[in-house]
Amino acid sequence: MIFYKLPKRREFPLDTSSVTRDSTKSSKKRRKLDVPSANLLILKGASFPFRLKGDPKAIGVETDDAILFGEYAREQWMGSIVRNGMYLFDRYVMPDFAFQVIEVQPDEAIVTSETIIQLDTSSDSEPTLNRVYSLEDVVGHEEVKKKCKLILHYLEDPLKFGEWAPRAILFHGPPGTGKTLTARAVACEANANLFLVKASDLIGVHVGDGGRRISALFEDARRSAPSIIFLDELDAIGLARSFQSIRGDVSEIVTSLLGELDRTSEESGVVIIGATNAFSLIDSAVRSRFDASFEFDLPNDTERLELVSKLIARLPLPVEFDISFLVSQSRGLSGRDLRDRILKESLHIAITNGLPSITNDVLIQVLDRIKGRERPSYTI
Ligand SMILES: Nc1ncnc2c1ncn2[C@@H]1O[C@H](COP(=O)(O)OP(=O)(O)OP(=O)(O)O)[C@@H](O)[C@H]1O
Ligand SMILES: [Mg+2]
Repeated sequence: MIFYKLPKRREFPLDTSSVTRDSTKSSKKRRKLDVPSANLLILKGASFPFRLKGDPKAIGVETDDAILFGEYAREQWMGSIVRNGMYLFDRYVMPDFAFQVIEVQPDEAIVTSETIIQLDTSSDSEPTLNRVYSLEDVVGHEEVKKKCKLILHYLEDPLKFGEWAPRAILFHGPPGTGKTLTARAVACEANANLFLVKASDLIGVHVGDGGRRISALFEDARRSAPSIIFLDELDAIGLARSFQSIRGDVSEIVTSLLGELDRTSEESGVVIIGATNAFSLIDSAVRSRFDASFEFDLPNDTERLELVSKLIARLPLPVEFDISFLVSQSRGLSGRDLRDRILKESLHIAITNGLPSITNDVLIQVLDRIKGRERPSYTI
């Protein structure tokens, strides 16, 4: 058998255009010019360029030895011209994994043996909250909001609570009743980092993936405290043990989750909010780790009136229908139903028909259509 040894990066001449996969005309021209050496290059793990549908997302990279990472990166990208924002593709450990250039000094420069190369390991799971939410936006659920206000106190000053800190709460109830909205509102008001994670995304392809993901998630959250970990669809991993025998892979995730819940100390400034539509199926060991659980009921008449009034204020067309009629006709529907199935649908019909407002006829048409369909029950 013949083995070929991959030549080391340093053995190539300095002009190695293929390495960065940057083949724009301007950059080719520039390479001929005298590009300065980079003093500093900061990279951040980005992602693979694509993944198979259903495969889990990459969760970022970290290193235990910053100097070693610098040497590894130099080995691959020495001689490359780097600019802010561009991607460099790994060739060894994770072929085609992309690193993004977060900072380079000077602005456009060539990687040399003198370049200090660092890996930025700051949180990747943190989603951007592009809308500001407040607890005022949440209609009803008064008990939950009280608890959330207490959580806000805690996140402001975690040391004050000592062993009595609120650490984990569980939201359960039908879909579309405001569980995610409430978690977003707490994170916004506390100015905390929100780690919104669908529990089903934690289930990996290989044994051990899920456990690693949970550890990385909690570590990220502790590092960037104050933070809130919102574990949505908790039933996907927190199923009662009798069900876990069917899905053996999830029991390892539950064990890691329980371990991390226990390890998250009172002073950490990390609060976990779990949410599920299937409370009764959650494993009792998982359930008992939560300090309190809150049921999100479907809105009553008064709450639906408030919800509809708030939503109508945000509609781009005026409404001509009687709000109390809509309230009386929408018993059993959630806040999301009111928004998406009734008001959004009515708005779309009005726009499609060129109407200047949402009329009573349009509303009746939509309500009739909804009544004709059976509402699916919420089970997993
Ligand atoms: N109590 C509420 N107050 C204000 N808005 C609400 C309320 N309930 C639902 N909504 C509206 O419905 C939308 C969907 O709610 P949300 O995503 O929070 O539901 P959920 O309980 O997390 O549902 P799921 O169980 O499907 O994840 C919200 O963004 C909001 O517009
Ligand atoms: Mg939700």
